[in-house]
Amino acid sequence: MLVCAIAFIAGCGPVAADRRDADVIVIGGGIAGLAAALEAERHGARVLVIEANSVPGGHAVMAGGFALVDTPLQRSKGHSDSPDIAFRDLMVWGEDADEWWVRHYVDSSRTEVHDWLAELGVKFSVLLDTPEDTVPRFHFAGGAAVNVVVPMIRAALETGRIEFLLNTEVTEIVRRGGQMDGAQTRRLRGDGKHMYRAPALIVATGGYQNDLDLVLKTWRTDVAPPARLLSGAGEFARGSGLELAERYGAARSRLDHQVTFIDGLPDPRDATGRRGLLVQNPVAMWVDATGRRFTNEAAPSKVTGEAVLRLSPATHWLVFDSAGAKRLQIRGAAWLGRETIEREILGNGALVKRADTVQLLAETAGLPVAALVDSVERFNRFVEQAVDTDFGRIGPGSSATPPLPIRKPPYYALQLFPMTRKSMGGLVVDHETRVLGGAGQVLTGLYAAGEVTGVAGINGRNGGSGTFLGPSVLMGRMAGRSAATLSLGDKVLREPRPASTAAATAVEPAPAAKPTETVDLTPLLAQSRPGYWHFEKSHVVVVERGLDCSRCHRDGRTPGPAVTKPQRLVQLGSCLTCH
Ligand SMILES: Cc1cc2nc3c(=O)[nH]c(=O)nc-3n(C[C@H](O)[C@H](O)[C@H](O)COP(=O)(O)OP(=O)(O)OC[C@H]3O[C@@H](n4cnc5c(N)ncnc54)[C@H](O)[C@@H]3O)c2cc1C
Ligand code: HEC
Ligand code: HEC
Repeated sequence: MLVCAIAFIAGCGPVAADRRDADVIVIGGGIAGLAAALEAERHGARVLVIEANSVPGGHAVMAGGFALVDTPLQRSKGHSDSPDIAFRDLMVWGEDADEWWVRHYVDSSRTEVHDWLAELGVKFSVLLDTPEDTVPRFHFAGGAAVNVVVPMIRAALETGRIEFLLNTEVTEIVRRGGQMDGAQTRRLRGDGKHMYRAPALIVATGGYQNDLDLVLKTWRTDVAPPARLLSGAGEFARGSGLELAERYGAARSRLDHQVTFIDGLPDPRDATGRRGLLVQNPVAMWVDATGRRFTNEAAPSKVTGEAVLRLSPATHWLVFDSAGAKRLQIRGAAWLGRETIEREILGNGALVKRADTVQLLAETAGLPVAALVDSVERFNRFVEQAVDTDFGRIGPGSSATPPLPIRKPPYYALQLFPMTRKSMGGLVVDHETRVLGGAGQVLTGLYAAGEVTGVAGINGRNGGSGTFLGPSVLMGRMAGRSAATLSLGDKVLREPRPASTAAATAVEPAPAAKPTETVDLTPLLAQSRPGYWHFEKSHVVVVERGLDCSRCHRDGRTPGPAVTKPQRLVQLGSCLTCH
């Protein structure tokens, strides 16, 4: 009482309007944070988005599609979906999904996610069928989610009331007298520290899948942790939001619910050996350390994932020949070029074993020779007879891409490892996205959305298709609304303003102009500077592809950072060159 009485004199209660840097602070500018910022702004709030990376967007920049229910696209293709069908699909697939959130999501994904994104100019044009959905429900805006997140960033910039503080990490959430007071930050470029004040904060920092120690510490108990685990999540997916909220006793749940991919290849560009690349080859045969096939390679990832994680050791090899080598794909902006894959992956003897006979291949790869020779012969027979009597990959009832026989030397073996991807547990929130403490108490003024909450348990123990991005948008909007209401009280706009129409039309980039000076990238890329992670990653690609600076730096200036709003809008026009 006494503390509060003293604090009261000093301004106890929500941060007074004249002491605020913003009405709402959003920590993390991924898809959940962007949705939160846009929604809070539409309800009248001034918003500050604090983002550790030099570009917003988060994982969604690399991601694919959205699970959406009963949309015009589904109807135009003759599919009749409904919240009830989707509810059943998600509950069955997830096994222990959070019933309230699943119900809420399937009931509102069309209006709150699909229609809301459509207002920002997003068009869903591709629909894929996936094993867990009884009706095709996996929606893509063009090729990938970058086509959703870039319009969101553009819309946020257009409002003029959402400020982005980039290259800045939140190191502490500050509370005074029982009220949230703001966020303590550290600049990644130059190390300045600063406190930003607001009475409502939204934690949207994403998952913890790049913190391999935490992933292993919280590993499920029914399967042993893999001897070698790679990181397949973004640089900043370090679970910092869990730590930030923990200080106030925030509860965590379902941390052992994680999507672990099994097709990770050690990234040859990563000197630490920690990072993995997602490798796909739809025609390859898979063998385990005994040189034998062990699963239907074309089965749903839930099946193949479990099959690999239960191997001892949990690792497998893709085996293919020179024809199959052409079908090898690596996900990610840096790996779009065929030549890069040929040179840095297929031509890299440390990663890929190559030989002119299957016997020699087995020897170089350290696999049992007789078993591998036998597996290849058996696999070739299955391909030729168009039936796989061991695992059902080929034959009646299988719609998988037909594999190729392994006959044309050179032969290849590529060893893959489990790789982290998505968190399905995290901070516990109530039905208004308020962060809850260990005893179920509300931590007033603190909200969370997106993967930092494990998208509220919507996936249960099995990650679905599009059930991260869609729920992140829904939760972000809920958090934005709740936070604006707390912060503005009666002043909150009950009727949100409409989406900015300016946002729907892409900004015409200025005509390419010759920069006044040239900048030599070589010395800038030779060093690894804190705060320049994305600049370095992206400009290695620029150099490799020999891209002209003026292709993206189109505002007539010497190539450099985008600081003003118009400069940032022009820069946004370049994202799709790589993503
Ligand atoms: C390669 C890949 C493909 C995927 N494909 C799909 C898909 O097809 N469909 C689907 O639904 N889901 C997919 N996912 C999952 C989905 O992309 C993510 O779950 C979703 O984008 C998470 O959004 P978020 O905003 O919660 O977190 P994030 O996108 O991780 O954003 C969090 C942001 O917070 C920032 N940050 C973190 N800590 C701090 C801090 N302390 N201070 C300031 N900033 C901080 C980070 O830099 C980041 O920008 C995929 C994930 C990956 C990795
Ligand atoms: C394909 C698009 C593209 C091309 C081509 C390109 N850039 Fe960039 N550039 C960007 C983007 C996007 C950013 C912002 C990156 C970030 O902040 O992470 C950027 C940022 C920069 C920066 C600012 C880094 C900082 O201090 O924040 C410099 C300097 C730069 N580019 C130099 C160049 C030069 C020199 C060339 C030509 C050799 C070039 N760029 C070509 C897209 C491009
Ligand atoms: C010249 C190529 C290039 C351009 C242009 C570019 N990027 Fe990137 N970006 C990359 C590469 C390469 C990576 C690193 C991918 C990896 O290896 O993890 C990356 C990673 C990212 C990530 C991290 C994703 C994650 O999983 O955490 C974000 C966010 C991102 N880019 C946003 C943007 C935005 C927004 C723009 C436009 C303003 C942009 N990028 C323009 C090449 C580019």
